[in-house]
Amino acid sequence: MKKDQTILTGIKPTGTLHMGNLIGAINPVIKMSRDVSKSFVFIADLHALNAIHDPKNLRQYTTEIAAAFIALGLDTEKTVFFRQSDVPEVTELSALLMNVTPKSMMDRAHSYKDATAKEINVNMGLYTYPVLMAADILLYDADVVPVGKDQKQHLEFARDIAISFNALYGETFKLPEPFIQDDTGIIPGLDGRKMSKSYDNVIPVFADESDLQKKIMRIITDSKLPDESKDPEENTIFLLYKHFASTEQIADMRQKFLDGKIGYGDAKKLLFAAANEYMREPRQKYDALMKNPEELHKILRSGADRARPIAQKTIAKVRKAMGL
Ligand code: ADP
Ligand code: TRP
Repeated sequence: MKKDQTILTGIKPTGTLHMGNLIGAINPVIKMSRDVSKSFVFIADLHALNAIHDPKNLRQYTTEIAAAFIALGLDTEKTVFFRQSDVPEVTELSALLMNVTPKSMMDRAHSYKDATAKEINVNMGLYTYPVLMAADILLYDADVVPVGKDQKQHLEFARDIAISFNALYGETFKLPEPFIQDDTGIIPGLDGRKMSKSYDNVIPVFADESDLQKKIMRIITDSKLPDESKDPEENTIFLLYKHFASTEQIADMRQKFLDGKIGYGDAKKLLFAAANEYMREPRQKYDALMKNPEELHKILRSGADRARPIAQKTIAKVRKAMGL
């Protein structure tokens, strides 16, 4: 990634954040936003609407994500941090892009096909989700979009939609590039499967101290004895420890696992100590922010005030190109 590129990403407020989200999405985005001159991070509440139909929950998850990013160090002076629905231009762009999006593309979307396979009632919000996502990206001329692997196809669609539009109406949109985290970045949950809210195997990012300890103690392991050699890279405790401990601590635990010098119980205690220390300051900040949601919403609104003029410029260009 180059310094003069614009990065953009959205996070859906569909549940309480877990350590997989922290390590796989939030931390990398915060880090990338420090390395480039322009960044947009938004809470994709319009996207969440296809699944969350309880307004109280939607507001709660939105507030939690806002507090989480700020508590974990996102610089909201530098990064344009906002709530998607505070920039209504995105819905107009989505409606316009519908006309250059083949229906067959939506039929191929994994998100839609998965929902159909699970016999979930598919609403039009879910079906046309990739068009709204393309609008999110194209509205701000993003160069690089950091996303999880599951979003790769949506990024390809966004590019294809931009290519079709440009071919029909002349060069209008920049083609975005995905930045995909590789498989080694997948964080396992308490049961060893991918940590995911759908599997009920998560460690919440902002669990309080005693909850964090309980969850960590509940991590499922195999039945190898302390003096048996264990592969650290196959081991949920170690894979989590790597993100919270210092370089020396990580090297030490790795060696002890290999040499059969540590049991899972002791390793869990070390993991708890490291994760708890890592989270100490962010947790305090988070708790303070959550007590003051008005302040959080003010920060989001001021992000939207910076995003909207850019969005309006794109919309004007698109309308003109299309003959409106
Ligand atoms: P969930 O699987 O809990 O529904 P989401 O799909 O809402 O999580 O996750 C949002 C983003 O967080 C993903 O696109 C991905 O980048 C990241 N993420 C989620 N779970 C993990 C995980 N177990 N390991 C690494 N990254 C993850
Ligand atoms: N669809 C993404 C997810 O489920 C969230 C998202 C919405 C997004 N709009 C975006 C990500 C634009 C990147 C760019 O995780």
